[in-house]
Amino acid sequence: MTTIENGTGQQEFTGKRALVTGGSRGIGAAVVRRLLDAGAEVLTTARSATGTVPEGASFVEADVRTRAGAEALAAAAQETLGGVDVLVHNAGGARPHEGFPAIPDEEWQDALDLNYLASVRLDSLLVPGMRERRSGAIVHVSSAAVLTPAGAFLHYTAAKAALENYSRGLALDLAPFGVRVNAVAPGRVATPGGEATRERWAEVSARMGAAPAESNPDDVPPLGRDGQPDDIANAVLFLASDRASWLTGRHLVLDGGEFPMG
Ligand SMILES: NC(=O)c1ccc[n+]([C@@H]2O[C@H](COP(=O)([O-])OP(=O)(O)OC[C@H]3O[C@@H](n4cnc5c(N)ncnc54)[C@H](OP(=O)(O)O)[C@@H]3O)[C@@H](O)[C@H]2O)c1
Repeated sequence: MTTIENGTGQQEFTGKRALVTGGSRGIGAAVVRRLLDAGAEVLTTARSATGTVPEGASFVEADVRTRAGAEALAAAAQETLGGVDVLVHNAGGARPHEGFPAIPDEEWQDALDLNYLASVRLDSLLVPGMRERRSGAIVHVSSAAVLTPAGAFLHYTAAKAALENYSRGLALDLAPFGVRVNAVAPGRVATPGGEATRERWAEVSARMGAAPAESNPDDVPPLGRDGQPDDIANAVLFLASDRASWLTGRHLVLDGGEFPMG
């Protein structure tokens, strides 16, 4: 663990209260671990605690796709933390399909609820407290797949594109109140969700009898390896920290060099 101090001898996130969605595995669990290591008090959520919620974090079961889930989570944050200084919207994902017309209507709605509207709903409940305190940092987890929108994942990439656009607009809205909003856009990261999605994608592509238009699932990024959850968590922590105090409305593509024009 690398400890970064804030010049007062304290760890960088000492005294900060953080809420991370989807912290039971993958990127979310790495963000939770890093925040705990840096001294934050952390609450996280998932639909069930069957994954490995990092020790030391508080956990509440909630489905962020619904307004009721967002409300339950905001109430738990108030009760457990007494407020939120750092908000990381990480829960996300979608199943690939055999091209655009094969994506069922309910999965379009689901992709929007999970990858976009979940953030809007939770922000609407937690941003008023940040505005009042005139401080706060929000990080949205998008996807580098936004850079190559195409059939199998169109519901997912469209939802993440909406999230990025919203993230930039929210940043402008909140800048006068000292609240910063940024996004990260990961490429291929080795997580349970990422691996399962890529396996399904390979199956779908094989059934279609053609290489998917997005990119070859077997490609390795130019840096020679897939990303690890900590690669993303390190960037999330930077964006949420005071080291990024003049940074808002940005999205950072973290992809091992896969999309040089991203
Ligand atoms: N891995 C990649 O290659 C990759 C690439 C680009 C972007 N991303 C983005 O990075 C984020 C994390 O991905 P990951 O690969 O770490 O995913 P993951 O391994 O599937 O983990 C997802 C986490 O979110 C939780 N979650 C899922 N649906 C939820 C819901 N409706 N309500 C509350 N929690 C929910 C999961 O727990 P439960 O299932 O128990 O609810 C789990 O804790 C996502 O936004 C994803 O789109 C990942």
